[in-house]
Amino acid sequence: MKNLADMSTPGPTPVIYDTDPGVDDAMALYYALAHPAIDVLGITTTFGNVTVKQAALNALYLTEIAGRRIPVTEGVATPWVKPGEAPPGHIHGDDGLGNLPARQPVASRLDPRSSAQFIVDMARSRPGEITLVAVGPLGNLSLALKLEPELPRLLREVILMGGTVLEPGNVSPVAEANIWNDPHAADKVFTAGFKLTMVGLDVTHRVILPLSLFAAIAERHRHPATDVLHHAVGFYANFYSSLYPHVAQIHGCFGHDVLAFIYLTHPGLFKIEVGRVRVATEGLAQGQTMMNRKDFIDFAQKGWGQDVPLTQVCLQVDAPACRAVLEETLMADWLRGSRPARVL
Ligand code: BDR
Ligand code: CA
Repeated sequence: MKNLADMSTPGPTPVIYDTDPGVDDAMALYYALAHPAIDVLGITTTFGNVTVKQAALNALYLTEIAGRRIPVTEGVATPWVKPGEAPPGHIHGDDGLGNLPARQPVASRLDPRSSAQFIVDMARSRPGEITLVAVGPLGNLSLALKLEPELPRLLREVILMGGTVLEPGNVSPVAEANIWNDPHAADKVFTAGFKLTMVGLDVTHRVILPLSLFAAIAERHRHPATDVLHHAVGFYANFYSSLYPHVAQIHGCFGHDVLAFIYLTHPGLFKIEVGRVRVATEGLAQGQTMMNRKDFIDFAQKGWGQDVPLTQVCLQVDAPACRAVLEETLMADWLRGSRPARVL
């Protein structure tokens, strides 16, 4: 299935960022705001790392302290079918940003539309132009598909952080958190016909980011936005370092969501395999992203026919190059205004 406009438009790539901020979501947002090749048109929030209400507040807060006015919408609050879970406060903090000690008041207000409606409106207004980068559970996108079945042709492409093929899962031996949080929505997205790229644990678990990098970024800018990011990553790094000895060695964390944007700006840093991906929606393997890597076999099991669209799956990554790109982007001059002393 072809997108309406597969030609490259001049200037930065227009992006809708679908997110559940979340520490690595915040890192990814700031990468996107800092990178000259990305134009963030809107932030659509979902439940996941926090409740959807907290996710929307965090998106407003993060953009406002970075001096940016970008539409933010509130999206789905629960999975399509399975019951919702309590957010993982031990990973991202109860507030999603590592339990910030204080917050500046936020003046900006939410866009009144639902996240799904915003995605549909934007895609209709700029057919074939917009890239959707989705780094949370996929309920907003699957609801948008329900509202507009032509969405796979109206969006330029979808890049999602989620899933895993060869690397073990992070919420079960086989499931990655974003997919596990709403497996029914995820299976709809993988089978809808988007030009789709999956940036999953196969690559995100290769890119470990030291907390010291975020300390250096905060020191370079001396700005509330990078102070908040440094604080949040500190909490996140404590969690990952308590879990994985190799991460503890550099006191760091996985970059997860930021890798979706690094794929957008630097696809050459990733090795991709193309195949049909389905999601296990029930049972012990719930949330598993299963990739058919033997398309030449006519399997007895139904559900793997040629009608299942192809997904580009990132299986390898140049981790040092990703770290360098992240550092260069966040160290650049992307924040207006600075302050003389730390607020956190
Ligand atoms: C994904 O789950 C969330 O906790 C992170 O923000 C990321 O999107 C990693 O499995
Ligand atoms: Ca996320």
